[in-house]
Amino acid sequence: MSLSVHLLVLVLLSLTPHQTPAFAAKKSYVVYLGSHSHGRDASLADLSRVTESHHEFLGSFLGSRDDAEEAIFYSYTRHINGFAATLEDEVAAQIAKHPRVVSVFLNQGKKLHTTRSWEFLGLEQDGVIPSESIWKKAQFGEDVIIGNLDTGAWPESKSFSDQGLGPIPPKWKGICQNDKDPHFRCNRKLIGARYFNKGLAAVAGPLNASFDTPRDNYGHGSHTLSTAGGNFVAGASVYGYGRGTAKGGSPKARVAAYKVCWPGCFDADILAGFDAAIHDGVDVLSVSLGDYPSPLFKNSNAIGSFHAVKNGIVVVCSAGNSGPSDGTVVNISPWVITVAASTMDRDFSNYVVIGDHRRFKGASLSPKSLPGGKFYKLISAADARLSHVSAHEAKFCKDGTLDPRKVKGNILVCLLEGEYATVYEGAQAFLAGAVGMVLANSILSGNEILADPHLLPASHVNYDDGAAIFSYIKSTKFPTAHITRVVTHLGVKPSPLMAAFSSRGPNTITPEILKPDITAPGVSVIAAYTEAAGPTNEEVDKRRVPFNADSGTSMSCPHVSGVAGLLKTLHPEWSPAAIRSAIMTSATIQDNAMESIINASYYKATPFSYGAGHIQPNRAMDPGLVYDLGIKDYLNFLCSLGYNATQISLFSDGAYNCSKRIGLLDFNYPSITVPKLLGSITVTRTVKNVGLPGTYRASILEPNGVSVLVKPAYLKFKKINEKKSFKVVLKAKGASVTGDYSFGELIWSDTEHYVRSPIVVKAI
Ligand SMILES: *[C@@H]1O[C@H](CO)[C@@H](O)[C@H](O)[C@H]1NC(C)=O
Ligand SMILES: *[C@@H]1O[C@H](CO)[C@@H](O)[C@H](O)[C@H]1NC(C)=O
Ligand SMILES: *[C@@H]1O[C@H](CO)[C@@H](O)[C@H](O)[C@H]1NC(C)=O
Ligand SMILES: *[C@@H]1O[C@H](CO)[C@@H](O)[C@H](O)[C@H]1NC(C)=O
Repeated sequence: MSLSVHLLVLVLLSLTPHQTPAFAAKKSYVVYLGSHSHGRDASLADLSRVTESHHEFLGSFLGSRDDAEEAIFYSYTRHINGFAATLEDEVAAQIAKHPRVVSVFLNQGKKLHTTRSWEFLGLEQDGVIPSESIWKKAQFGEDVIIGNLDTGAWPESKSFSDQGLGPIPPKWKGICQNDKDPHFRCNRKLIGARYFNKGLAAVAGPLNASFDTPRDNYGHGSHTLSTAGGNFVAGASVYGYGRGTAKGGSPKARVAAYKVCWPGCFDADILAGFDAAIHDGVDVLSVSLGDYPSPLFKNSNAIGSFHAVKNGIVVVCSAGNSGPSDGTVVNISPWVITVAASTMDRDFSNYVVIGDHRRFKGASLSPKSLPGGKFYKLISAADARLSHVSAHEAKFCKDGTLDPRKVKGNILVCLLEGEYATVYEGAQAFLAGAVGMVLANSILSGNEILADPHLLPASHVNYDDGAAIFSYIKSTKFPTAHITRVVTHLGVKPSPLMAAFSSRGPNTITPEILKPDITAPGVSVIAAYTEAAGPTNEEVDKRRVPFNADSGTSMSCPHVSGVAGLLKTLHPEWSPAAIRSAIMTSATIQDNAMESIINASYYKATPFSYGAGHIQPNRAMDPGLVYDLGIKDYLNFLCSLGYNATQISLFSDGAYNCSKRIGLLDFNYPSITVPKLLGSITVTRTVKNVGLPGTYRASILEPNGVSVLVKPAYLKFKKINEKKSFKVVLKAKGASVTGDYSFGELIWSDTEHYVRSPIVVKAI
């Protein structure tokens, strides 16, 4: 459960006070200086000159070059220019004022955000790969290199077997950093692995030898990396459920693990991971981690991905698990692909049957089941509390609140608390001696139920059913229940359905750019796991599994990374922005019942949930037209945000003239967002033909209360790579519809391609 990650990060951080006395007075900071003046192929002398310049620069503040050398624990020398150091707050504040400095920010922890999915996305059908599958056309992503910044990899996993793969692509410059852990072996599939822990150590204090390895002791990194680029593994399942052939989106890709999460992920380590991955030669970087929305150049993901995209790397990030509230989306840089999470057409379900024979359908992956037909006493956690604990605390089944004498031998009903994973309550119920657990949603999580491999027979039910079960317990003297065996269902309708946990727009940093960009499967995804921890990641869980089911935008992100790998194989000349455009403009906003995609409260979802829609990989390979962007556009974007010439020059490898200032609304993104429409506004876009010659006609679905006109209404392309610009005039129809966002779409079509862009407008 990616939601469990929240819990684990808290555990990790709560350990830190015991370990930090030596650093109590100082904090660790990242000082970001933009780009380097040396080129891509810097010599060792260039690199050590950079480190020396960092020592001198910091030395000028500390009064001594030697003190600076001691304070700096990372010097970013290759692509990202900057360093991470332990500093007094006052010194950090002084450094931030220096004109050479782009930004200074605290080295803080970020959170990690889990195979039916590829069939659901149309790449295969009943084990057969149809001729229109992008897998066939793109040779399964052969030799594309996908890296991920995560908790490392479990190298023994069959998903990372190199069977059937040729020699490592010659452009690869990475290493297998197993100097302290010789049992960690790379191969022709897992071609590289590195670990970065100095940023963690700067906060947590000295680390023991168990941290000196890229090995994944947590599971998250193996899951995400194998979802993006894992090899074919027949007979994979979680305790027999969902059995099938596991595989990544680019099953023949080469993969590389950059371990920056322990499982908390610190900014200084993330930047070091990006710098190394760019140097090593990855084509795609998958980044399933984040924190809260923050300004672009105080955010390690934004900085790292800027340099990666500048080097032609596609960077794919998770949108976050803080939904369904508005404005929660993270990783909002306009140079990355930001991915929301939705369901696929599979569920793992069982029933809670109560004493009066009513049945409630729930979700579960518990390997154990109760003896057929046997009923047990049903007790709510509030009634099973220890005498000194309040009912309010106990109802969530928190550690130390339950009285084992009351729980033992019974089925316990827990309420799901937002922050906690469902596996947490399962572990507590198990520890207290319950024979089974019913986990009921609060009103916030509504209808979203997640199947997890609990330690005991269990079922996760929705809010309404949970309320019915609670009122049944109150209404009778001897409440009883039974939980049935788990069954796997395929072809579930409607799907996809937006996950309630998936973070939502609007983008609170640059509202003119719609985020997230796209949605992909992120609920109960089965992929490779670590064998160093149990499938629930709870201490008490001594089970070990090669594959596990997990949920989160962490799991949807690598689906898009895998597809990006295929597109990169098929169209090596496409820019990261062209690949994103192809993915976005070919997406769908309909589910498998041919209705509009809905959310977990069964309301029609909007682009703030799914961006351009649900990914359709087979259509993305031939999008017709793309909205392209290059590094100059990103620099102009920064100009528009108000960065001045001096600041821009820090990113641009030399002077950059900001005078060609374009409005943010005209930034050539594949979606159109106007957060403040007063009267009438005209936005400009440019499309590039990546298909055959043809004539495209514009059609519009107007947002409520806004009229939309496209000029010209036809675009005629005579050759490939030809570019044409057009204008979109948006006009508020009157005062009656102001104050709220409304949604429409623009489609360019030559009757073969449908190049669809969401339109998001708020009239004020
Ligand atoms: C290393 O440190 C971790 C975290 O503090 C701890 O759980 C582990 O037992 C330690 N391992 C050794 C070999 O000391
Ligand atoms: C579903 O959408 C409705 C209407 O926009 C919104 O009020 C509700 O919070 C959403 N629920 C979830 C779980 O996303
Ligand atoms: C650019 O902005 C920085 C920070 O606000 C300021 O110190 C500097 O003087 C500005 N430079 C120019 C050329 O305006
Ligand atoms: C930037 O470009 C403008 C217009 O092209 C020109 O007038 C100006 O001199 C340029 N500035 C610099 C510093 O090159």
